[in-house]
Amino acid sequence: MTDQKPFLAALAGQSVSPPPVWLMRQAGRYLPEYRASRKEAGSFLDLCYTPDFAVEVTLQPLRRYGFDAAILFSDILVVPHGLGQKLWFVEGEGPKLEALTGEADLEALSLPRMEEALQPVYQAVAGIKAAIPESTALIGFAGAPWTVASYMLEGGSSKDFATGKSWAYGTPERFQRLIDLLIEATAQHLSRQIVAGAEAVQIFDSWAGVWPERHFRRWCLEPMKAITAKVKAAHPDIPVILFPRGAGLLYEAVAKEAGCDAVSLDTTVPLGWAAKTLQPHVCVQGNLDPLQLMAGGAELDRAVDEIVGTLSGGPFVFNLGHGILPKTPPEHVSRLIERLRGGSNTAENGLSTQSAPATA
Ligand code: CP3
Repeated sequence: MTDQKPFLAALAGQSVSPPPVWLMRQAGRYLPEYRASRKEAGSFLDLCYTPDFAVEVTLQPLRRYGFDAAILFSDILVVPHGLGQKLWFVEGEGPKLEALTGEADLEALSLPRMEEALQPVYQAVAGIKAAIPESTALIGFAGAPWTVASYMLEGGSSKDFATGKSWAYGTPERFQRLIDLLIEATAQHLSRQIVAGAEAVQIFDSWAGVWPERHFRRWCLEPMKAITAKVKAAHPDIPVILFPRGAGLLYEAVAKEAGCDAVSLDTTVPLGWAAKTLQPHVCVQGNLDPLQLMAGGAELDRAVDEIVGTLSGGPFVFNLGHGILPKTPPEHVSRLIERLRGGSNTAENGLSTQSAPATA
């Protein structure tokens, strides 16, 4: 028990002090070394599919901050790309896909093609595992079926999810076939990452917060539950973290019904409610507002202390409520880590952090 990595101990239900920490999108454009690697690789997808580059950018934030977990550098959209859908990234606009329009496009998607196409991703996982420090855990990840389907149907980011919702409300059998294919593909993708060395997995349902309850259950909760069951059937000891961003009160249903080990809280989830309602069932992860990290200073310190103060009585992993923003000053991340692990304390609110032994 004592040799367990702090991040895995928290996921296993222990209260760990100081709390283990990693940040969603911890590798990315806020780091000058990431921008340099990306330039050298040529494009974002070249970074994802060249194992040496993917390993390098995964390690960059660990070298600076000594996070308790590494997360594979990749993207949720490699799954539709591997299944055969065209994918490209436009500078300043984000991902673009050739949108699925009907049955024929669905039929053309291929699981064996994905297995083959994503080999470089699994090689990157093995490379990262070989390179990280002993106390650091490796997280694999995938998008949840609904979030990935939304990109596949809209052809990119969306404000109202009109196409996805019209499939769900108008032709639910057809939408179910797409979701079922994504359940299979996602479970397979996560299992391949686990075989290659991932020690925990996180499923990102970034757009879970757009549905009426009945449809949230059918298109978000049930698919994440099905994937969790499939992953656990093959790998019973691998913890599963679910991130149903924007789920509000339905976080409770996820924590109690999905069979996961942890839920990742978005920024709007009230801390006291999470401690009382969710933490007795699962480990909670989160939920600093990425804009508070960008702001820095006393506002950052206060927010960190409040989160830690409310959630550290139970199993807890410190994280953001959503991905780190490209304009975040890297020194604000250093300040956050010092605040969590003890060290200089320049708080104006009189709270002091406990000093903790420095990590390697
Ligand atoms: O957390 C990590 O460090 C691991 C890497 C990771 C990326 N994307 C790298 C990335 C992870 C876990 C993701 C998940 C992801 N990708 C999600 C779910 C989480 C979330 O943020 O809601 C979604 C919805 C995507 C799809 C996606 N990929 C979008 C919408 C964009 C464009 C937005 C942006 O930030 O530019 C991407 C590109 C992307 N994925 C970048 C990175 C580092 C930026 C690419 C670049 O220009 O260098």
